[in-house]
Amino acid sequence: MSESDEAKVYTDRSEITDEQSEYIVGASDKMKRVLHLAEKIAPTETTVLITGESGTGKEKIARFIHLNSARAGRPFVTVNAGAIPETLIESELFGHVRGAFTDARDRKRGLFELADGGTLFLDEIAETSPGVQIRLLRALQEREIRPVGGDTNLKVDVRIVAATNKDLREAMADGTFREDLFYRLNVFRIQLPPLRERREDIPFLAEYFLRLYCEKNRKKLEGFTDRALALLLNYAFPGNVRELENAVERSATLAEGTHVRPLDLPPEIAEGGLPMLTEGKVETFPDDLTLEELERRYIQRVLDRKSGNMTHAAKSLGISRSTLWRKVSKYGLRVD
Ligand SMILES: Nc1ncnc2c1ncn2[C@@H]1O[C@H](COP(=O)(O)OP(=O)(O)OP(=O)(O)O)[C@@H](O)[C@H]1O
Ligand SMILES: [Mg+2]
Repeated sequence: MSESDEAKVYTDRSEITDEQSEYIVGASDKMKRVLHLAEKIAPTETTVLITGESGTGKEKIARFIHLNSARAGRPFVTVNAGAIPETLIESELFGHVRGAFTDARDRKRGLFELADGGTLFLDEIAETSPGVQIRLLRALQEREIRPVGGDTNLKVDVRIVAATNKDLREAMADGTFREDLFYRLNVFRIQLPPLRERREDIPFLAEYFLRLYCEKNRKKLEGFTDRALALLLNYAFPGNVRELENAVERSATLAEGTHVRPLDLPPEIAEGGLPMLTEGKVETFPDDLTLEELERRYIQRVLDRKSGNMTHAAKSLGISRSTLWRKVSKYGLRVD
């Protein structure tokens, strides 16, 4: 097994389950579609390219595909080829024979060999250097590798799943990503939507992470207060699921009593949903607004988002319906 930090090697199902729960939240239609695609493609041998912003769950889906394939009993090997120094890349990926270079005292198996029979997850594929790209391309084309210093090729049987948060077509246009490698990898594409485009998942993910971290830290929390949940729902999550997970972990640590309160949330979330979300876009208010004007605009936006449902809007704002009615007439807001 490789000692490098860039490579995480999981040898079997039980090891993975110990390290990280395999439960995947998919409440929104968009995530249901992703999981449906992943389920369909998993049992095949097809190469998969997973794209999506940072923190959207690309590695989670890669592991899901592995676990739902016939290769599940074999290794799942993650390699962040962009993080391995150019000088080590060849021996990391393909291994080396004894005596291949001065300090090669033993034969070393590369990541392709370690993944034999299983799945090789090529993470951050857009970050790879031209030298790495050509070597990967050859290995994928030939399904053979040659350890550094060796004189024979080894057949390897690996299923490739690659991931990137970059636009590979743009990278090809810029000349930083090889077209031939792109077409090798882009056989079946799974695109993970950012969390702000599937806000229905937020409460489920939040509850799931809360349970996870309560178990880990032996805490007993029952959930979130309505206001805390409303704040989570209003936040844009530029760091996607990972940011939500970190926010919940922090909150679970700070919370006292039975529920996570707004003051347990990270400041950027607790500070009232700014930046806030409208139709999936991140929007900020100009910062020279008076407090009254800010309140007027904010309440209007919540009303619009809740399609004029006063009960839902009041709940999201953390105020009573009668208070909301008062503000609606004070500011002359639209309720439709
Ligand atoms: N749908 C989901 N259900 C449950 N947990 C999820 C889900 N999506 C992501 N996670 C969790 O969120 C965290 C981030 O996910 P992951 O590492 O897979 O994202 P990524 O897209 O690979 O991110 P990066 O681009 O930063 O590497 C992980 O702890 C993962 O377990
Ligand atoms: Mg990742």
